[in-house]
Amino acid sequence: MENDQIKASTQSVEEAAKNPKNLGEMEGADAVGTVGRSDCGDMLRMWVKFKEEDGRKVIDRASFQTFGCQTAIAVASIATEMIRGKTASEALSMSGEELSSPLGPLPPMKIHCAQLVEDALRSALDPSAEKPATLTIPSGPSLADQIPPPSGKVKITLLTKTTTA
Ligand code: FES
Repeated sequence: MENDQIKASTQSVEEAAKNPKNLGEMEGADAVGTVGRSDCGDMLRMWVKFKEEDGRKVIDRASFQTFGCQTAIAVASIATEMIRGKTASEALSMSGEELSSPLGPLPPMKIHCAQLVEDALRSALDPSAEKPATLTIPSGPSLADQIPPPSGKVKITLLTKTTTA
């Protein structure tokens, strides 16, 4: 039974990752958060734009970019849809488990992928929050600027310690 659930979840992840929603950088975002995991090396950046609705400041839309696994893509895609219409604190109260719930229970080794999405959201909406499990990557114009091209020649420059007299 548990294996069937994991199989179904893997299939949902594959489908969601094949056609991700809200993928890409957002012009004019109100908030941006970037996190990376040192254990698997995956990174995720999320942008959030707010609007006023019935006197409340709610999330109008969110988007993401990632150098991450299929599960991170699938959860980020779903999360950007789920947080629409929520206030920042409502969105912040959602756990990785809740954000990935439409995909079904994730296999244990993929739970951290949903955590990555939760942490990116936290980094965007509450920059002062502690992120003990992740490594925060400084913001930049584009996530792609921080990653070397995937193919082609790579130039390695050795850094040596210099001393000044
Ligand atoms: S394997 Fe690291 S985020 Fe999925």
